[in-house]
Order: sequence, then C-alpha cells, then structure tokens
Amino acid sequence: MAINIKTEDEIEYMRESCRLLGIVHYELGQIIRPGISTADIDEQGEALIRKLGGIPNFLNYNGYPASICVSVNDEVVHGIPTKDRILQEGDIVSLDAGLIYRGYHSDAARTYGVGEISPEAAKLIEVTRDSFFAGITKARAGCRLHDISAAIDDYVTPYGYGIVEDLCGHGIGTHLHESPNIPNFRQRRRGPKLKKGMTLAIEPMINMGTEEVEWLDDDWTVVTCDGMYSAHYENTVLITDSEPEILTLHEEERKKLQGGNICQRQM
Ligand code: MF3
Ligand code: CO
Repeated sequence: MAINIKTEDEIEYMRESCRLLGIVHYELGQIIRPGISTADIDEQGEALIRKLGGIPNFLNYNGYPASICVSVNDEVVHGIPTKDRILQEGDIVSLDAGLIYRGYHSDAARTYGVGEISPEAAKLIEVTRDSFFAGITKARAGCRLHDISAAIDDYVTPYGYGIVEDLCGHGIGTHLHESPNIPNFRQRRRGPKLKKGMTLAIEPMINMGTEEVEWLDDDWTVVTCDGMYSAHYENTVLITDSEPEILTLHEEERKKLQGGNICQRQM
C-alpha cells in the first residue's frame, strides 16, 4: 500500500494532535509513583485527552477496553489498566497513548521508573529511548524506510538486548495505523524511499533478555517469554526536507534535548 503524503493543512492538524498528546504524556509522567493503580493512570489520561478537546483513539480500537495502554515490567505493550494493579517501587511502566484531534491521530509512548529502580532497568529505558533517536537520524527525505530499522538495530544490538520483532511502528494520519510497517530490526531490503510529508510512528520495543514475546489470555497484553523487563519509546515524526520533526515531544522534553548530542541527553 502506498504511503500517504500529508498536505500542509493536514500537517498542521497532525502537529496540533501531536502537541496535545505531548501534554498528556508529560502530565501522566508526573503522576507515576508507588501506590497508583494502572486504572488511575488510564482514568486521568482519558480525562485529560477529553479536556484538551481530543478523542482517545485506543479506546475500543479492535475492542481494546481503555484509553492508555499501561504495561508493567515484563509487559511489553498493550497492558490493560485495572484497579488492582498497583505500581510498586522498582517497577518500570510503559505508557502508550494516542488521541484524535480534528480527525488526525497521534501516537506516542514513554517508559518510566517507579520510585527508585535498578541501574539495569534505568539503562534499558535509556537505551530504548536513545535507539529512537538513532533511528530518526535516517528519518529523512532520500533515505529509505529500513535505514531507520537498521539504525535502531545497530544502536541496540551491542547492549545484548532483545529487539521485539512481532510488533512494528507504522504510518499514521487519518487512521491510527497506516502504511508502512516500520520494523525495529535490520531488513534484507532497504524499503521504500522516504518523502517529505510522511508522518510515521517510530516505536522501538526493547527487552532486557530474549526478544521472544507472547500474548496473555486477555488477547492484548504482550509479555516477554523470559519474564524480564521491557521498555518502549515512541513518537510521531514528520519527514521534512531536512531534520525530521518530532511532533509528540513536549516543550520540556524538547528543551532538554536542545544544544547537545541528542542521543546522549537525559530526558
Ligand atoms: N500505540 C499502539 C500501536 O501502535 C496502539 C495501541 S492500539 C490499542 O500499536 F488498541 F492497543 F490501544
Ligand atoms: Co504506535
């Protein structure tokens, strides 16, 4: 399937949708602490999305029952929030959120430590985030789609982590999932050429141990097969004539990235 090229007007809608999502993530990042339930996070996330004038796009998507995917420790993605899942000191928690604003979708994910976490867990979160930034060095007009995949793979592999292969990033626009699929590992072919006006959700999912994952009986929650931790980092990105525009970064995150080697910055 062809990859949509967004018009200038559509890009403005994408920017606004993504800017609002950046606010949602930023605010949710502030409430993460031991004692909060995953359902509380979902409730507050949904309320904020609606307050900002957005519609949660995950809610009822193929029957998914919440607005925010909350995935704890060995849960990779698509964890279902519940009242009785209480975050504990030392956990890591991935929040995946999206919204629709004036018909345009945004999608982003962050992984947070809950209270004090082990240095190993912190490293996993950092490398996962930085692999996104390594990937988007190739998110440029003239590069090819799988150059992004290869750059993520090359960044992560030296750490000995498992790159999840069963789930991918994706195009995004008037639908949450558009063409193309964006694998986070090296491909045999370089894939289609990237063009100005493409909007892509790039989302490495990285496991501390094996890359193998399985689905729980709820048919949603993806977990690592070895029970080790997994982290997720995602932004919706616009391909331009030069640097990619990371549409879902919050102002505060952007500030921390400015004026330095993007891959080395703490966010
Ligand atoms: N961000 C997720 C993805 O790109 C979307 C989750 S869909 C849901 O796959 F239904 F699980 F919410
Ligand atoms: Co996504």
